[in-house]
Amino acid sequence: MKEIKISTTATVYNDVSELSTEDRMLMEKAVDARKKAYAPYSKFNVGAALLLENGEIVLGNNQENAAYPSGLCAERVAIYYAGATYPGVKIMKLAISASSSITKVDKPVGPCGACRQSLSEYEIKQKQSFPLIFMGEVGEIVKTESLLSLLPFSFDSSYL
Ligand code: THU
Repeated sequence: MKEIKISTTATVYNDVSELSTEDRMLMEKAVDARKKAYAPYSKFNVGAALLLENGEIVLGNNQENAAYPSGLCAERVAIYYAGATYPGVKIMKLAISASSSITKVDKPVGPCGACRQSLSEYEIKQKQSFPLIFMGEVGEIVKTESLLSLLPFSFDSSYL
């Protein structure tokens, strides 16, 4: 029997003014994307912006559906669009922002478990980790250096 310790490191910024120019620019794109989300049921808008190796920025936002589970999160809309449009082009960075018309989202909103799993596939595929920067509408911003650091014991193709 042995015990193992799993830990991860994140940087927490007080507000967007503390971000690097590139991170801030990408976060602004995520905010723009968030404003175009289709979230009539949850009223919870999420925007995602992916910076690709070729300089392209791919946006996504949550797309809901009257049949609730048929909707899709912002992160997966963005990553699947990137995979479909720019296959083989590496993802360098992902920014996420969330807001709600019901409540003020003032805590950083990380990707849900299903999105972490979906995103992890691309980090593994490209053999290069990419940072994630996420926030609510206002308040602190969290930056982690890799997606897999947020998903210990993740499932991958090695099990198949
Ligand atoms: N949502 C995202 O877009 N990304 C996440 O990581 C968490 C949740 C969306 C799904 C749904 O449209 C709404 O937020 C409320 O759960």
